[in-house]
Amino acid sequence: MQSIHSYSFQNKKALVRVDFNVPLDKNTFEITDDTRIKAAVPTLKKILSGGGSVILMTHLGRPKNGPEEAYSLKHIVKRIEELCETRVIFSESCVGDDAELASEKLGQGEILLLENVRFFKEETDGDQNFAEKLAKLGDCYVNDAFGTAHRAHASTAVIAEFFPNDKMFGLLMEAEIVSIDKVLNSTDEPKTAIVGGAKVSSKITIIENLLNKMNSIIIGGGMAYTFIKAQGGKIGSSLVEDEFLDTALSIIEKAKQLGVEIILPVDTVIADSFSNDAQRNEVKIDEIPDGWMGLDTGKVSEQVFDKVLSNSKVILWNGPMGVFEFDNFQTGTKQIANSIVKATQNGAFSLVGGGDSVAAVNKFGLAQQVSYVSTGGGAMLEYLEGIELPGIKAIRN
Ligand code: 3PG
Ligand code: MG
Repeated sequence: MQSIHSYSFQNKKALVRVDFNVPLDKNTFEITDDTRIKAAVPTLKKILSGGGSVILMTHLGRPKNGPEEAYSLKHIVKRIEELCETRVIFSESCVGDDAELASEKLGQGEILLLENVRFFKEETDGDQNFAEKLAKLGDCYVNDAFGTAHRAHASTAVIAEFFPNDKMFGLLMEAEIVSIDKVLNSTDEPKTAIVGGAKVSSKITIIENLLNKMNSIIIGGGMAYTFIKAQGGKIGSSLVEDEFLDTALSIIEKAKQLGVEIILPVDTVIADSFSNDAQRNEVKIDEIPDGWMGLDTGKVSEQVFDKVLSNSKVILWNGPMGVFEFDNFQTGTKQIANSIVKATQNGAFSLVGGGDSVAAVNKFGLAQQVSYVSTGGGAMLEYLEGIELPGIKAIRN
């Protein structure tokens, strides 16, 4: 494995796997959030300024059967040009004669963007021949696609074997790994994880892994009601996964044995329907009347969480505390974000990851005030579960 910091890119064509799977407007195909493109720019500039050229590989969306207009990377060419301040050449196929010719003609300091690798099903199949065709286009392989590192696809993992001595992480990938490892392995204490979101089922493995790493785990959002019901609370018509009541109890039990504090909301903002304009009330979280549902954390809980976070040295946040997409039910999520920002100002290391919590810090304009915002959704979750991601493994091995 090489390091991007010491590798010589002079006169080399670097095949860079990025995750430019950015959201596009359905009608105009304009990019609605370019965070992921911006995040890879330092890697691209480093290669170009080191005397190399860049061949970009990425997927966009989940095309089913070959090329689809809605998922064409031609929609993002202009934005890459603007952000890299360099002309971007576009190849309408990612493999084959045209791609090879475009790569041959590529000069020092230039960028070539290959069309969506998922227009070939060989990509998601992790097909070796396809990976070899991609590999033919460059002299070295840089993986900067943290957001796709949990996929064992041709361009994210398999391709690495064709560059045994010329493969490396990009700067974004490095920063992501350093940040998550800091949360999981730092000896600074106390360490607090905030796990929210709708479903216990999608977060069990993560919580179980975090029980061995953190001092406290705050559980909020929709999944909290399953924990409250499991302990005998009345949750009205709040979100619940009845099949996971026992799991919730066993998590609480395991935490006790390990001396990890599980912190649940004590009060909640309830609504008489799932709507921003619903009638609201604030009650104890285990005394929700029939016909009402909890959609946000209450004021007392916010104070409890704030106290825990203000003492924390390491903070991980994944998953919102309520239905923050509704302005009337965003306070709990906003307050947790504020508490994290405050703790960060006092020296804590804070990592925010997962689509919804990242959307939340962006909505509240706080993304610059936490230590690190991850570009990975699923990838970060799998990393937190303790899985060695295929994209990372392929570079290291
Ligand atoms: C993402 O947005 O989660 C990544 O780009 C991976 O995309 P995928 O879930 O379609 O593999
Ligand atoms: Mg995904």
